[in-house]
Amino acid sequence: MPLHVVQHPIVEDALAALRDRRTSSTEFRRLARRVSLMVAAEATRDLPTVESDVETPLETVPCRTIASRVVAVPVLRAGLGMLDAFLDLVPGAQVGYFGLERNEQTAVARRYYEKVPRDLGDAVVYLLDPMLATGGSAAMAVEGLQGLGARHVRLLCVVAAPEGVRHLEECAPDTEVYTAAVDRELNERKFILPGLGDFGDRLFGT
Ligand code: PRP
Ligand code: URA
Repeated sequence: MPLHVVQHPIVEDALAALRDRRTSSTEFRRLARRVSLMVAAEATRDLPTVESDVETPLETVPCRTIASRVVAVPVLRAGLGMLDAFLDLVPGAQVGYFGLERNEQTAVARRYYEKVPRDLGDAVVYLLDPMLATGGSAAMAVEGLQGLGARHVRLLCVVAAPEGVRHLEECAPDTEVYTAAVDRELNERKFILPGLGDFGDRLFGT
């Protein structure tokens, strides 16, 4: 499974502040958006384009525009913190939603909501979920997308754990993962170490 770790001083800087326990929710949202933009830029680097002519005020110039159908699927809740950045880059993307929630005792995800465009066979699908911990949520979401015909799925995250990367590799080896960091390990509660805590709670101030 291709794993892309986005290396950039702006990503490092934003990640340092995201990890900082003193960062407020207001600031956390801004930082999440900044990192997501950088990760999304990398993950869209090879989107197919098509040539078309554009008239400037002075003359006609051949330009390139995005040719493929793009679908963004944030995983509720935390994935919402990545959506605006993605839509800044690809405003024409369709948007679907998966609601997934880990059980606090078992860390096993359950799906409680799904609203995703159908017939995804021709689309490049970007799954937005900032934390790849055990990989259970991501595997469930990828499986759901594949059930809707998706053939090209990319997972965009902020922090990944080696355990989650390995799990996804076993369950969905064709899924490309783009992340700002791969951390050390999971703790006994399946939280990422050193991580940044509960992304959804910090994003929404809960
Ligand atoms: C978090 C996170 C991922 C999941 C990752 O969501 O946003 O979806 O955990 O963990 P996993 O790789 O072990 O499945 P959570 O279940 O806490 O829900 P929330 O976004 O509503 O806070
Ligand atoms: N979900 C989070 O928000 N953080 C973790 O460390 C693991 C799962």
